[in-house]
Amino acid sequence: MRHPYLLWRSFLIRDNWKKSTGYALSFLSCFCLCFGFSTVYGQEGEEVDAKSLFEYHCATCHGADGKGTKRGHELKAPNFADANWQAAKTDEEILNSVINGKNKMPRWSDKLQPEEIQALARYVRKLAPEKRS
Ligand code: HEC
Repeated sequence: MRHPYLLWRSFLIRDNWKKSTGYALSFLSCFCLCFGFSTVYGQEGEEVDAKSLFEYHCATCHGADGKGTKRGHELKAPNFADANWQAAKTDEEILNSVINGKNKMPRWSDKLQPEEIQALARYVRKLAPEKRS
């Protein structure tokens, strides 16, 4: 009969690979946990992904480039990429229309968080044509 300690040692050596995968797994889950926390935290903070939101909720009518889709044109959606349109609109008007809707444009205050609407209103400004200098 071998000494129990030696048995234990040989067990450990034989199972070394298991131990290292174990370490790798716990490292990985720790990493995932931290990453998960940071994403949840990011959603609570100011970081709203306005581009994705716009493409998801607004692009059906306004198009990803803001110029308006066929459906949008039928409903009389404006062209956000038109400098004259941008110049004629105040930030308040844009924000107000997204919150409360306007004619065929649906209201968004029931579906989106205030900070998401704010971010989208800012994003509409980014769809303006690039100024050439
Ligand atoms: C069902 C189609 C549709 C969807 C979806 C839609 N819009 Fe509109 N949107 C319109 C139409 C139509 C108008 C033109 C309203 C008018 O002036 O008569 C408009 C106008 C606007 C205006 C200009 C408002 C003004 O004061 O002139 C903004 C800004 C706007 N939309 C932003 C958004 C944003 C942001 C989203 C996504 C959250 C969105 N729209 C989703 C149809 C849509």
